[in-house]
Amino acid sequence: MTLTQEQKQFVEDLLGRMTLEEKIGQMNQESPSIVGGFDVPFSELIEMLTDGRISQEEFGRIMASAKQDLHEDDIRAGRVGSMMVNDPRQNNTLQKIAMEESRLGIPLIIGFDVIHGFRSVFPIAIAEACSFDDDLFESTAHMAAVESRAHGINWNFAPMIDAARDSRWGRVSEGPGEDPLLGSRFARAKIRGLQNDHSSPLNYVAACTKHFVAYGACESGRDYNTTSMSVSQLYNVYLPAFRAAMEEGAATVMAAFNDLNGVPCTVNRHLLRDILKGEFGLEGFVVSDANAIRECVSHGIAEDERDAGVQAALAGMDMDMGTHIYLEHLKAEAEKGTVPMEVIDEAVRRILSVKVWLGLFEDPFVPEELIAAYEKGLPEAHVGLCRRAANESMVLLKNDNHLLPLSRGQKISLVGNLADNPDEVCGAWAMAWKREDCVSVRAGLEAAGAQVSYYPCGGPEGEIDLEEADRACENADVIVAVVGETDAMSGEASSRTDTTLPGRQRELLERLLRSGKPVVAVLMNGRPLALGWEAEHVPAILEAWHLGIRMGDAVAAALLGDVNPSGKLSSSFPYVTGQCPLYYNHPSTGRPGSKSKFTSRYLDAPWDALYPFGHGLSYTSFAYDDMQVHKIGQCLEFTVRIRNTGERAGTEIAQLYMQDVSASLVRPVRELKDYRRVELKPGEEKKITFVLPLDALGFYDNEGKYRLEDGLFRFTIGPSSREGLSKELRLTF
Ligand code: BGC
Repeated sequence: MTLTQEQKQFVEDLLGRMTLEEKIGQMNQESPSIVGGFDVPFSELIEMLTDGRISQEEFGRIMASAKQDLHEDDIRAGRVGSMMVNDPRQNNTLQKIAMEESRLGIPLIIGFDVIHGFRSVFPIAIAEACSFDDDLFESTAHMAAVESRAHGINWNFAPMIDAARDSRWGRVSEGPGEDPLLGSRFARAKIRGLQNDHSSPLNYVAACTKHFVAYGACESGRDYNTTSMSVSQLYNVYLPAFRAAMEEGAATVMAAFNDLNGVPCTVNRHLLRDILKGEFGLEGFVVSDANAIRECVSHGIAEDERDAGVQAALAGMDMDMGTHIYLEHLKAEAEKGTVPMEVIDEAVRRILSVKVWLGLFEDPFVPEELIAAYEKGLPEAHVGLCRRAANESMVLLKNDNHLLPLSRGQKISLVGNLADNPDEVCGAWAMAWKREDCVSVRAGLEAAGAQVSYYPCGGPEGEIDLEEADRACENADVIVAVVGETDAMSGEASSRTDTTLPGRQRELLERLLRSGKPVVAVLMNGRPLALGWEAEHVPAILEAWHLGIRMGDAVAAALLGDVNPSGKLSSSFPYVTGQCPLYYNHPSTGRPGSKSKFTSRYLDAPWDALYPFGHGLSYTSFAYDDMQVHKIGQCLEFTVRIRNTGERAGTEIAQLYMQDVSASLVRPVRELKDYRRVELKPGEEKKITFVLPLDALGFYDNEGKYRLEDGLFRFTIGPSSREGLSKELRLTF
């Protein structure tokens, strides 16, 4: 995000004309308040939903008839800088009030959680990351920007780029997985896709990278929990994706709910001022997470709301999401001098700068023809991108005896109520899908011409019908069981202590397997599951995650061989939940796990991953050979030959890893340094090249300083974080 001199001057002039109240108004974000239309207070309604007294559908019905206050009077009075609304006509009305009826005519920045697509819902991020396809990451973000803008949204609360290594945490679904390099490339591509197409103001939005920072490391995978870590771990694992996003020009950042080493991120001056705005050079603004300023009182870091507001403002928190604490307290504090005027001016300057950069002062409105066009349905190109994204995000975990792909001549019994529910395909944080766009696995298979009979038999929730399972087996050549999690089982506030298949789904699989017929498990889930049992017993497993609106098309295409799966895991899968947190790039220990007793291992489970980061099979096979490495100037050049040794065309994702064999701090056993998608026809071979700048071989120490240390390095190129060809090099810098 860069502003011209003229734009900067415009911001300064406007700032000079604002009253203190108007400035504080810019720092306030509102969402529509629910002001009635049902019999219980809103907080109780949420509790009723959480404890199951009302279903998601009932909740939706109640909310649809609830009365909303859109804060028109506050907007008119200049008390609102930002809103959270996704209805295009409502947004036009609110912008008109802001532009024409407020004293200074400052448009609203309108934010919304467009996490993995708006109406075109793409795979959840942990799934999309399995494509290792930077071009795809960028394209889906661009389409999300275009659809957001068509609905009056000019600020997406995305990308969520929290590194996450503990799949008990429900929010692993929202981000690109466990690896800092993949996370950084994902972050960069997302920022480019959201922000860089200025061919029309309707083609870009401001990104909001979140959650800053180390939210993914919350203790024991319990959401909103505390986080502690060394400076070097913070810099090497959790900050890189944010640094990359800032280098790419991300306009805004959302602070995380958690405390980091005792200081909540919301009031963490070191994180917000020194690192984000200082070291990383954020030009736009920082917004709190929802209600987070108030929560500093519960954290026990502020005595009351006033104190929390003062601490947040001083720490560099520019906008308050949803508490009104700035609105209520900042004026008096500024007048007393506890919050200096420069702090307020800085926040407002940042917020106005983003609004100017978005072109909102010229035209914040959605043209009526555009609204009408979306009402007619999704353009085919959008649907096509949803399909491509879904196709590339599936990971074939296991395929004994080439059970997959199936043929159209085979009689398939499709089992599991997730298979026939279009409402479940989008996953967590999908807020604007329409049922008519969503394709279930059943619908996908039927449309693809498979011979399929459907037997619900039950799913992640509730009872299962074992007799129906027996009937499913009787007439089938092959059984496809769609098992996993509902969309509500991952995402925010959805941590689980047991990450095996929920409910009685394992029993269902056991029953199906008892028939002796071949069983394929299609997983539909939002986190790496503990699949030790399934990996031992089920002959073929396709990880399909929540793939978005075209899930059914993609799964059918993979099952029938029209698409050859190419995804590789963006997160490691454990055998059992007790292995969490689990990740491939863990620090080397003095006693690496092995078969002997006094090593870093468990008595009752393996120490390493069941399916490691980077793992993923194909319907064809690939062979790597002739790895070479040369130092050329300030770079290392790696070459390797990859050959398609099977009978189908396929895409391999080649991965380059490094190990710093000896360093002044313990380093990971392996770190991803680059990756490449390689398309190969049967029998074809390609020589591929990776170029790694020497200064990419360093690491951050416990003072946050980057170090390049001479010594021995081991490089591996291969198909996953566990296999490959290796070479060692001694390097001096
Ligand atoms: C979540 C954020 C989200 C915000 C606004 C919070 O609860 O943590 O990720 O952007 O709500 O909806």
